[in-house]
Amino acid sequence: MSLTPIGEPRQKTTVSSLKNKKSKQEPITCLTAYDYAMARLVDEAGIDIVLVGDSLAMTMLGYDNTLSVTVDEMLHHTRAVRRGVKHALLVGDMPYGSYHLNAEEAVRNAARFVKEAGAEAVKVEGGEKRADLIRRIIDAEIPVAGHIGLTPQSVNVMGGYRVQGKSLADIEQLMRDAVALDRAGVACIYLEGIPREVGAMITAEVATPTIGIGAGPDCDGQVLVFHDILNLTFAPEAKFVRRYGDAAALITDAVQSFRADVASHQYPSDSESYHLPKDIQAALEAVLERKRSLRR
Ligand code: KIV
Repeated sequence: MSLTPIGEPRQKTTVSSLKNKKSKQEPITCLTAYDYAMARLVDEAGIDIVLVGDSLAMTMLGYDNTLSVTVDEMLHHTRAVRRGVKHALLVGDMPYGSYHLNAEEAVRNAARFVKEAGAEAVKVEGGEKRADLIRRIIDAEIPVAGHIGLTPQSVNVMGGYRVQGKSLADIEQLMRDAVALDRAGVACIYLEGIPREVGAMITAEVATPTIGIGAGPDCDGQVLVFHDILNLTFAPEAKFVRRYGDAAALITDAVQSFRADVASHQYPSDSESYHLPKDIQAALEAVLERKRSLRR
């Protein structure tokens, strides 16, 4: 089902259309997707931004955190998503280690997302300290999405996945981070795991659209992880997750029914089988009958 009114063709989301949405105070929607089927469903449902998040390390590959996923793995998933996305802005997440060494390597890796996988923007974690690097990537004509607050690639430095920006000093730093990204010219800023009040302050301060995840309702947009909204995560839910469906129950039910049908010879039925054309079947019968009569 599409929510686009008949007669109004859906527009392609671009970096500038995100800015327009912020200026018109129209909420921006973003979901992660990691393969072709998910990408089609998310795009066709009218979501503005499809993010191939490095969260796929956990949701799709079963790692404990996002640190192990490689550029090649991210590109593999981004290419699949690219084939399913027609209207949303496609953002590829630069994985840990792909932009940390130097700007040259960061630009080279960012360009791979564009050239080899069709991403329209890349996402980089970190604020003030990444501003120069982000400028270099933007100078290479690649839009960048920033990501501050709870940045999962810093899990070992943060000592776990903890809400950030709770002290005055931390709020000041977050504000500096947001302003640095805004000045660097990012396409949007993901705000993750921060108090609602801080999300609201940053959103009011910067011209860049903010997309929150666990950052309260006052951000310019919201993002959630596909697996979280569908109960496919196999982990306790974070406070901010709202579950919109139970794909785990649906899949388990379907798989158990298939197993039971095969075990009880209920699947496949005759109508689910291919059949020989009538003349070939008659000829085959004749051959088999001749063989049987020779044996007698
Ligand atoms: O990797 C990811 O899915 C993300 C979003 C949660 C913002 O970074």
